[in-house]
Amino acid sequence: MAHLRDRSHRKVTGAPDYDTPEFWDARFAQGQDVGEWLNPGQVLIDEVLSNLENRSRTSSGGQRKPHVLHLGPGVSQLGSKLREACLDRGWRANGIVNVDFSSEAIRIGQTFENLRPPTEAMNWHRADLLAWNDVANLLPYAPFDVILDKSTSDAIATSTDQSMEATDDISHICPTVQHLLATDYKINLSPVELLALHLVPLAQRGTAWIVLSYSTFRFDNLPYLAKYWTLHSRTPLKAPTGPVSSSTYTPDIFHWVYILIRK
Ligand SMILES: C[S@@+](CC[C@H](N)C(=O)[O-])C[C@H]1O[C@@H](n2cnc3c(N)ncnc32)[C@H](O)[C@@H]1O
Repeated sequence: MAHLRDRSHRKVTGAPDYDTPEFWDARFAQGQDVGEWLNPGQVLIDEVLSNLENRSRTSSGGQRKPHVLHLGPGVSQLGSKLREACLDRGWRANGIVNVDFSSEAIRIGQTFENLRPPTEAMNWHRADLLAWNDVANLLPYAPFDVILDKSTSDAIATSTDQSMEATDDISHICPTVQHLLATDYKINLSPVELLALHLVPLAQRGTAWIVLSYSTFRFDNLPYLAKYWTLHSRTPLKAPTGPVSSSTYTPDIFHWVYILIRK
């Protein structure tokens, strides 16, 4: 079996546990979350719609049904906004799948969904995106046209590296990682790289992974990711500012919109 070995990238002492479901469950249950990380994400909705509109139309019962995987929605309104935009275009919204490892996020999301008719209801799934056994449960919804990620890979990046070795049983590991282990006996994967490899079986050639991140180097120097995903663009976006005195000079801060394309 491939084992989780040493964890060479360790967490910063005292940093919040962004990589544990308990941390997020507590925030969501106590209403402590900001609700929208980085910004409300209209830029991502625009990118997703433009990508979907450029795809060849596949219909289901005469009505188009885009397949979108939303990573780590938390309590953000992003999924709901995408649903409304799809319905405005006459598309079905039940191809949108929201996935989070926080049971509380899933419970809250599902509660609102229950009020919707079936063609308008998005799917909600609890899954740890770094655990293949969880991610494999999403295969019946695949392949996705677009993967949407607002600061979820940022949270995942705070987790630790995983080092894996090929031994006699690699059956519980993602097929993409199994494939890599067939040529490299031992591999060390950063959490974002492991996420990228887990997304490969859920994607198809041309699937777009559209990300808003605070990091200017979120996808840099990840060789295993680069085997399967092309970094198509990285666009700066001025971050929202809080109230400041007009006499104070405050430097601009940027967030980054990344578009990665499945090779
Ligand atoms: C920074 S918050 C972003 C929430 C939301 N996308 C937004 O923009 O407001 C990160 C989200 O990712 C989820 N998350 C973090 N690590 C995860 C993992 N390994 N698997 C699934 N979800 C994860 C958290 O529960 C949380 O909802």
